[in-house]
Amino acid sequence: MGATTPLAREYFPAAQRWAYLNHAGICPLPQPAVNAMHRRATEVSLDGEFTYAAHSAEIERVRTSAARLMGVPSTDIAFVKNTTTGLGMIANGLDWSAGDRVVVPDLEFPSTLYPWLALADRGVLVDRVRPEGPGGKLTVEAFIDRINDGPPPKLVVTSWVQFGRGWRVDLAALGRACDEAGALLCADVIQGLGVLPAELERWGVDFAMADGHKWLLGPEGSGVLYVRGARLDLLRPLEPGWNSVAHREDWDNLELVFDDTARRLEGGMPNVTGIAALGASIDLLLAAGIPAIWSHVDRLCDLACSGLSALGATVLSDRSTEGRSGIISVQVDGPPIPLLAKQLQSEGIAVSARAGGLRISPHGYNTDEDIDRLVDTVAKLTRG
Ligand SMILES: Cc1ncc(COP(=O)(O)O)c(C=O)c1O
Repeated sequence: MGATTPLAREYFPAAQRWAYLNHAGICPLPQPAVNAMHRRATEVSLDGEFTYAAHSAEIERVRTSAARLMGVPSTDIAFVKNTTTGLGMIANGLDWSAGDRVVVPDLEFPSTLYPWLALADRGVLVDRVRPEGPGGKLTVEAFIDRINDGPPPKLVVTSWVQFGRGWRVDLAALGRACDEAGALLCADVIQGLGVLPAELERWGVDFAMADGHKWLLGPEGSGVLYVRGARLDLLRPLEPGWNSVAHREDWDNLELVFDDTARRLEGGMPNVTGIAALGASIDLLLAAGIPAIWSHVDRLCDLACSGLSALGATVLSDRSTEGRSGIISVQVDGPPIPLLAKQLQSEGIAVSARAGGLRISPHGYNTDEDIDRLVDTVAKLTRG
């Protein structure tokens, strides 16, 4: 396809050397994000502290654009180091009693499961929801069965999109189910935010988090945490510091009066350089429009599924309308999948081996030619 892509391909230096189909892993940084980091680093190299006022203003601007992307008020966003930190702030910030239940899917990403298992010494019980079928598919009915299988859980936790096979959980329907059960809903959105339209507030999500380094096209170690305003007082701020209080920068006032926004969770100096880069990437996403990016990515995933199926591959991912995401996983006869992924990498095709399949995750600057290159190279590597 010579046609344009929703995200300008020329912004992605990686596209000159790769068919880069691994946004579920670590994304390549777009040039505007590199420029933003360079600008910030240069400014601070020249003027140190005297860049701070301008950069604080920039942080607030990025907070607003991140909130737009998530479909939430900007006062409900805190910047965090990464997804795991955001999950830990919920797990360790809530007030638990022995016997409290957490419902969480089986086959989750480690960071989405461990924070709740680590509460075992406080008597917290973790009940897992089994995905259905050979490829995995996670219906809201499966969550509801687990929710009703005991006293009402305090919290339901899930990835929006599962990292290995890419099944998507219907957060709006799950939000309704949690509301009915009186449970809080925490969604790890790192595998969806930046590629799928999000309306987290309207869907009834209470807590959500994502680092920049996947679909947001940002740098590593620069993430966002959403805490619904009405739930903020349920969380104990784990790192109270100068940046947590309403009167920040009034250095002689030592009263602990927490800010009434999610910023109270930030504590100390944020990663200003990372946030500047994340902001540049989010600007690209918002300018292209998430619906346009999603329909492009969805079409590329369909193209990859049909091309690879024609070679005899089995598509493992849930490709139903409500279950599909930007991640597809396929099983191919030939070399073992981890070896095939490595061979593809040496041919300039970036994919991963996960959950028994070849994981393919294109973004809004990938083209049909990238997918053709993948399919042709898989054909070559698996022939006879
Ligand atoms: C579902 C999910 N959560 C979290 C992470 C990463 O967490 P962090 O941003 O803390 O590195 C990943 C990375 O693969 C993931 O797939």
